[in-house]
Amino acid sequence: MSAPAARIEVMHGVNLDQLGRRDPLVYGTLTLTELEQRIEGEARALGLQTRFFHSNHEGEFIEHLHSLRGPPTQADAIVVNPGAWTHYAWAIRDALEIAGLPTVEVHLSDVEHREPWRRTSVISELCIAKISGRGADGYRDALVRLRDELQRGEA
Ligand code: DQA
Repeated sequence: MSAPAARIEVMHGVNLDQLGRRDPLVYGTLTLTELEQRIEGEARALGLQTRFFHSNHEGEFIEHLHSLRGPPTQADAIVVNPGAWTHYAWAIRDALEIAGLPTVEVHLSDVEHREPWRRTSVISELCIAKISGRGADGYRDALVRLRDELQRGEA
C-alpha cells in the first residue's frame, strides 16, 4: 500500500481575500478562490493533499495555527502568505513556532524590491524557504520544497 499523501495547510492572511480587486500589476488577476484551485491541482499532481484557510482576523489566524499541532496532527507542513502581517505580527511568528511544522513563506509580489518596510519578515527565520515575486508560480515552488523536505524526513 502506498503512503498517504502529505497534508499541506495553505494559509492566507489579511487582505488576500481581496485578490482580483488589488493592483493586478503587483498581485496578478486571480481571485483567492482561483488561486486556491490552481494550488490544489498542482498539489494533486505532486501527490500532495491541500487544505485552505484564510482570515482577516489575527486571532483567528493564530488559533488556526494552534489547531494544526496534534495530537491528532492536522497537517504535515504549511505554506503561508500572511499578507501585511508578515512584516510586524510577532504573535503570528510565535504561533508558527508553536505549530512546529516545516513551513514555506510565499509572497505573490517581489517584497524585496518594493517599499523598504516590506523587506522585513518576522516569520522568515522559522521557514525553510521564502519565495517572493513569482506570482502564483511561487506556490508550486513552495509545494515542491515541502514535498522534498518531507521525503527527506522519511528517508
Ligand atoms: C504580500 C506582500 C505584502 O507586503 C502585502 O502586504 C500583501 C501581500 C504578497 O503576497 O505579495 O498583502 O504578502
